[in-house]
Amino acid sequence: MSRYWSQLAASIKPYVPGEQPKDKKYIKLNTNENPYPPSAKVLEAIRSAADDTLRLYPDPTCSSLRQTIARYFGLSDQQVFVGNGSDELLAFCFPAFFNPGGPPILFADITYSFYPVYCRLFSVPYETVPLDEAFRMPVKQFFKSNGGVLIANPNAPTGRFLELTAIQAILQHNPDSVVIVDEAYIDFGGESAVGLVKKYDNLLVVQTLSKSRSLAGLRVGFALGHEGLIEGLCRVKDSINSYTLDRLALAGAQAAFEDEPCFRQTTAQIIRTRGETVKSLESLGFTVIPSAANFIFISHQGFAAQALFTQLRQRGVLVRYFKLPRIDNWLRVSIGSDSEMTAFVEALRNIITT
Ligand SMILES: Cc1ncc(COP(=O)(O)O)c(C=O)c1O
Repeated sequence: MSRYWSQLAASIKPYVPGEQPKDKKYIKLNTNENPYPPSAKVLEAIRSAADDTLRLYPDPTCSSLRQTIARYFGLSDQQVFVGNGSDELLAFCFPAFFNPGGPPILFADITYSFYPVYCRLFSVPYETVPLDEAFRMPVKQFFKSNGGVLIANPNAPTGRFLELTAIQAILQHNPDSVVIVDEAYIDFGGESAVGLVKKYDNLLVVQTLSKSRSLAGLRVGFALGHEGLIEGLCRVKDSINSYTLDRLALAGAQAAFEDEPCFRQTTAQIIRTRGETVKSLESLGFTVIPSAANFIFISHQGFAAQALFTQLRQRGVLVRYFKLPRIDNWLRVSIGSDSEMTAFVEALRNIITT
């Protein structure tokens, strides 16, 4: 606390990311990172971009990367926006599409905890829609007047996927609001809403290279939507920082879209490992929410989640525990490599049988 803070800085409650401890080597299943390395082509592209052109600013329009992404998804360059991670891109959406004085924007009561943080930072009013007891989305509750809709699909931290028919119904009932579908985890089994972009000019699909393309450290996210929405995002970006993506990130991100086999192989492996892990956990008596993401949300009737979290940590396994209403007896566990997940399941077995 400092007396020099603005009223805003004093009143906001910043997001707290999952820990990145340095005290010892953990099995890290707490921040939904990919256990596999990025494509060798990405590393090669970054290495060859690391030359004396770094003295020059990067392309502020990111035209080459936008073109690559546009081709990949069968859209035009004007329907693509890129940002420094999808977190930054989501932040830009608030001043671009939501109004401080307007009706509240809607999102689920249990979802990505950055959303209410942005609302406070940008003074955007919000209302939460309560998920049912199995964390399913009551879709009809989005059929009312609002200032915008924000849906993580698959949802975080539950992993549940909302069918595209439901997304389409939400779009149809909200022609006057921007509907943002945050698809950070879409490549692990869900079906993207990107095919609806040409049909609905109020749909913005947001994705990231952090999870399915193993590039959390590069910080690249992108948004797909009607060119009017993309222009709105560009206006906000160019009022804050014209060069959000550096030369290395631009080169690496582009190469990531040029190595489809690596992407397919990695995501398929994580989906397989998720299936095996779920089976093992169910045999230990855990409830596991059906997941279309690279993490699972688990709970055990006989053991408190917070105690499991602490004991796993003592055994060198980090998972994510949220001390929040409704989910304080649940753990979110990222899907790591097969050997990491075997070690995690064994640690749990040990805890609950001794
Ligand atoms: C639902 C959701 N959206 C967006 C992000 C942000 O991803 P990034 O900023 O790494 O692109 C995350 C990260 O964990 C997430 O869980």
